[in-house]
Amino acid sequence: MSGKNDSEFFYPSEEVKAQANVKDYESLYKRSIEDREGFWAERAEDLEWFQKWDKVLDDSNKPFYKWFVGGKTNIVHNAIDRHLKTWRRNKVALIWEGEPGDVRTYSYHALNREVSRFANVLKSMGVKRGEIVTIYMPQVPELPIAMIACAKIGAAHSVVYGGFSHEALSDRINDAQSRVLVTADGGWRRGKITDLKKIANNAMKNSPTIEVCITVKRTEHEVYMENDRDFWYHDLMGLPIASPKCETEVMDAEDMLFILYTSGTTGKPKGVLHTHGGYSVYTSTTHKYVFDIKDEDRWWCAADPGWITGHSYIVYAPLINGSTVMMYEGAPNHPYPNRWWQMIEKYGITILYTSPTAVRGLMRFGDSWSQKHDLSSLRLLGSVGEPINPEAWKWYHKVIGREKCPIMDTWWQTETGGFMITPLPITPLKPGSATKPFFGNEVAVVDDAGNEVKAGEVGKLVLKAPWPGMARTIYGDDERYKEVYWKEFEKQGWYKAGDSARIDEDGYVWVIGRIDDVIKVSGYRLGTAEVESAFVSHSDVAESAAIALPHELKGNCIHVFAILRAGMSGSKELEAELKNHVSEVLGPIAKPEKVIFVDSLPKTRSGKIMRRVLKARALGQDEGDLSTLES
Ligand code: PRX
Repeated sequence: MSGKNDSEFFYPSEEVKAQANVKDYESLYKRSIEDREGFWAERAEDLEWFQKWDKVLDDSNKPFYKWFVGGKTNIVHNAIDRHLKTWRRNKVALIWEGEPGDVRTYSYHALNREVSRFANVLKSMGVKRGEIVTIYMPQVPELPIAMIACAKIGAAHSVVYGGFSHEALSDRINDAQSRVLVTADGGWRRGKITDLKKIANNAMKNSPTIEVCITVKRTEHEVYMENDRDFWYHDLMGLPIASPKCETEVMDAEDMLFILYTSGTTGKPKGVLHTHGGYSVYTSTTHKYVFDIKDEDRWWCAADPGWITGHSYIVYAPLINGSTVMMYEGAPNHPYPNRWWQMIEKYGITILYTSPTAVRGLMRFGDSWSQKHDLSSLRLLGSVGEPINPEAWKWYHKVIGREKCPIMDTWWQTETGGFMITPLPITPLKPGSATKPFFGNEVAVVDDAGNEVKAGEVGKLVLKAPWPGMARTIYGDDERYKEVYWKEFEKQGWYKAGDSARIDEDGYVWVIGRIDDVIKVSGYRLGTAEVESAFVSHSDVAESAAIALPHELKGNCIHVFAILRAGMSGSKELEAELKNHVSEVLGPIAKPEKVIFVDSLPKTRSGKIMRRVLKARALGQDEGDLSTLES
């Protein structure tokens, strides 16, 4: 079974090829597979270490791989400190534009000063090495500053996306046992204030471990501040303790840098754990090779720093590579759908990295909004988060990239830390395919028994070899880490991605989507179990099942089948109420598209809901094998 786009190629221009950091994929790939440790050791040599590693890869306790064992480093040393010794001290590190149009810029020198000051503030609040600070913020410069400040003093951060509800925030604070929360009074989104402090205040009611909450003043609306617990960021930064000098803590390569919660197959979000050493090497190498980073670039990853894309490619990788990073607070279409194009022109952005959902959303407004602007500074484009449909790919390529900017469709996950399957600028592209594995990675599509399927056939995507940016565990739950990613192909020692995919005759990988109980809505990752438990927390609902259905803009949307409690009956009003309830419990991204009231749900004899049957029914497709269905 092959796709209809399999033979359609887009070739890079001679100009793109001439300036590419990597000129020959095949030979470097071969080398990286034949001598994986040698390849990664060389990449690690590009960074500075306080002490060199003794061993590149320790695989003595699989699947708990360790990289650069014995090495001493701190990601902040490479992301900031080392640049201060060079001309880059004066280079613009961060250009930030707020939704209302306010602008702030930081040189590497200034970024270091702000990070150091806040690091000293955190220290004065008793923050210690290894402790996890929770950060719940809008897209303002203080967000990366707070993240980097934690890393600098050896604390770990847990950033909770600013669109999450108080319950989601509180669950994450409790799992991480955070003592300190950094937040903001609010942020701007489509001209409105998102009331983050109010949500944080509600979350703290159920999070008794929080002793200190530091709040950045952004929107300046009235917020409740509790005596002895709440402090304004600007007040603390004005005190003598906020000195601009702060030593960067010496860390082991394998010390925790951050945890980031992501949805999985059970209701409880997983704190995916990344470390200082391997993550520094992996993210900076992927960024440099895939996006061909040059000192002249102005790099814009238009994700939210609250997700892995922002962690790896707004904050850490670009700073390690000494790039100028663009960051924008608000919505792409506010006040008009030319907002992004206007900023690309204004700041001379050279590389734009975004999601298919954003591309489809902007495509909807037609070509004229981008044509009002000079986008000739762009030389590369990127896509991440979900498969990009060829129609959106072609629009992005033609209208935004004026047919001269190759699109780097990067497949990866919170757990992988960085790009795993991706083109390079020199790769002939096929719209909708993430193309080939990045250096050091071996990828396969297999059946349930682990046999590689034939070219063009759909199977499970697995990663056959470890890589430095891989998650080390799920925070506090090693067993779950083994169970979720490594158990199914334990014999072979492969990592199961949870995606289905096919590899075509040319060796190009086409990722199809999740095959577990994870739903990707607008590129955001949600668990069916999370949505279902939000549903049954409503007093009218007895049981529910959430499924993903295709959606033109969002990629997927959520449909929920709900059984009501005895005596209750479904209505339009109740549907609206339930949708709002989920939005409140989990956050607006989880709001279902549709609620369908039913009397029963298809289940296996062991009582598991057969979501695939619901999905087939909803799509009017064959329901497949029903032999295990409860009669
Ligand atoms: O299903 C794949 C999809 O996003 C999942 C990972 O989600 P998350 O951990 O939130 O990380 C998103 C950003 C890295 C994957 O299992 N996905 C991500 N990138 C792509 C993709 N699907 C197809 N093509 C991609 N380029």
